[in-house]
Amino acid sequence: MKTRWPRRWCVVLLAVATSFAAPSLADEAAAPDPAGMLGVTRGEDIYAQLCQGCHMPGGVGAAGAGQYPAFAGNPNLASAPYVVVTILGGRRNMPAFDRAKAPGGFFPSTWLTDEQVANVVNYLRTQFGNRYPDTVTASDVRALRSAEGN
Ligand code: HEC
Repeated sequence: MKTRWPRRWCVVLLAVATSFAAPSLADEAAAPDPAGMLGVTRGEDIYAQLCQGCHMPGGVGAAGAGQYPAFAGNPNLASAPYVVVTILGGRRNMPAFDRAKAPGGFFPSTWLTDEQVANVVNYLRTQFGNRYPDTVTASDVRALRSAEGN
């Protein structure tokens, strides 16, 4: 006698099979898309989408419910590694944008690729009246990530 699978079982098996076919997180880490989850790589676009909500357009910062430092005339920006590490690891009320440190869960928080961190750092340090001539590269960011234990 021919075995007939109930229709419902076929749907379940198909769902299991396609979930195995989906790329795993490990694959993504091995070959990350430089545009990451935001889908943009320009420093200006990253700033507008992710940073300006707190640090304000023009990098003027804000004080009110919290203190959001300004990037205009801020001497802390003189150190590029300090800026990179702040973005990767967060600082008090500043969220971390390193994938390993950003809170996960059902709605995972935004994380940035090495290239995105480098581009937004170079953007901050050459905008808002800043004129720092040294730039950071994606590999500088990668090196700082590993120094921070990621
Ligand atoms: C949810 C609000 C928030 C967002 C979004 C945010 N920041 Fe911040 N950021 C802060 C706060 C608050 C601080 C001050 C942290 C502290 O207490 O020292 C800070 C500090 C910083 C500092 C250090 C400034 C200094 O004077 O030491 C840098 C650099 C920085 N943020 C860059 C960024 C960049 C780049 C982005 C976007 C990728 C970003 N921030 C997104 C809230 C935010």
